[in-house]
Amino acid sequence: MGGSYFLRNHWYIAAHGFELVGKKPVKRTICDEAVVIFRGEDNNIGILSDRCPHRFAPLSTGEVCGNDIQCGYHGIRFNRDGDCTHIPGNLEVPHGFRARRYPAVERHGFVWMWMGEKEADPSLIPDFRENSDPGWAPVPGYLNIACNYQIMVDNILDLTHVVFVHKTTLAGGGVTDTPLEVKVEGDSVKAQRVMMNVDTAPIYRAARGLNGKIDRWQIFESLPPCYVKIVLGAREAGATTPLGEPVHMVLNGFTPESEKRHHYFWSTTRPWALGDKKVDELYKGMIDLAFNEDKEIVEEQQKFIDADPENSHFTNFAFDRAGQSARRILRRLIDEEQAADKKLEAAE
Ligand code: FES
Ligand SMILES: [Fe+2]
Repeated sequence: MGGSYFLRNHWYIAAHGFELVGKKPVKRTICDEAVVIFRGEDNNIGILSDRCPHRFAPLSTGEVCGNDIQCGYHGIRFNRDGDCTHIPGNLEVPHGFRARRYPAVERHGFVWMWMGEKEADPSLIPDFRENSDPGWAPVPGYLNIACNYQIMVDNILDLTHVVFVHKTTLAGGGVTDTPLEVKVEGDSVKAQRVMMNVDTAPIYRAARGLNGKIDRWQIFESLPPCYVKIVLGAREAGATTPLGEPVHMVLNGFTPESEKRHHYFWSTTRPWALGDKKVDELYKGMIDLAFNEDKEIVEEQQKFIDADPENSHFTNFAFDRAGQSARRILRRLIDEEQAADKKLEAAE
């Protein structure tokens, strides 16, 4: 597919905000581009191509200097707009000598990066406020996964797999025999599964002391190109807590690193037990374990996809509908973007 596997004119999560501390920059590859991400003393974020325009050493081998990044090889500095601000020996900056810059915004505790040529539009950043709102307790995490990001979007939009993959954490009664209700609204896929009077799940036993039968809900919203917001909840079977009220949410961002590898940024967040380290640890432990189980299986899937000489198609069942709809929407958006690019090229 080369080049056509992601939407260029959109925001991708490049880092958790907390990764950028002190003088140390973060080196990362986002959508095939090697970049350096850094936080200046003024607290603002810069993202530049990691390739220093002097002799092509990685800027990320250097350090933050004031609000600029200083290359680790010969000490040349660049500000977050990519302008060269200092050459050792105070040599004059040659015309056009600069580093490539990418628009960057820190919002909801994540660093967002714009990949496209069009003007960056901050209104397209998904609403992940529960990761930074003081009324919520976020427990964030990160995994680097060796598969195409859409395979993980499929995974998260089909929680049927929890019963088979996450036996000690998220599995529970009712999941496989309750159909997933799916509807498409604009470019977003909304799906839900509400399960009444079913066996509890280990996570609810441990975190909430729900040992008997429960009513349980999973509500999904996917937003292109690679975001899924999930509301999860449970109550004692028949209790009066309104169905759909979040007990916790999982915010998911799957940023392509390349066509066959991605960065999984996640945050599980809850509006209760704020500041309770024990509950934080419980969620962190269970979710880390569960997502590593996902990683193991999807990486194997990618290997079989790569090894298939016939490029066979997946087979889809009812519980694949949400993922399938999300794929269809993204395919259309990428095709539209490419058609618009071609038109522009032809006009030039
Ligand atoms: S390669 Fe970066 S300063 Fe020389
Ligand atoms: Fe999973």
